[in-house]
Amino acid sequence: MTADIPGLRLDRRTALAVTGAAATALTLAGCDTYGANEAASTAPAGAGPGKQQQPAELATTAEVPVGGGVVKGDTVITQPTAGSYQAFSNVCTHLGCKVNEPADGKIVCPCHNSVFGLDGAVLSGPAGRPLDSRGIRVEGDRIFSE
Ligand code: FES
Repeated sequence: MTADIPGLRLDRRTALAVTGAAATALTLAGCDTYGANEAASTAPAGAGPGKQQQPAELATTAEVPVGGGVVKGDTVITQPTAGSYQAFSNVCTHLGCKVNEPADGKIVCPCHNSVFGLDGAVLSGPAGRPLDSRGIRVEGDRIFSE
């Protein structure tokens, strides 16, 4: 058997070898494509570029005393009244020092003694504005960043 392609004449053996190689290449390409799609479809949600980060657990409610608070990472979490939680950046709005953990119902900056309430408001300067608030969400006994 021969294959007649204009300008090309192949005997049977050469035609079969070329056909087999082409079929193998197409099969491998199909497998490669399949694997790539599978990997893309099993990637965890939020893992791709440009996706928002998942909310992080900051603390448990048991860690935040009523009438006080706690510092977790760069976040101050307070509970001014039972069951009411608020969160703030721990960066003082005066010159950027990190505030102390809440004590005696207040948040004090050790650098120049600005004092903030458990609601983040300035009780005494030199800070001229409240601590920057942070969004949180309480689910059961766990507190998450928003
Ligand atoms: S940096 Fe906090 S009082 Fe000055």
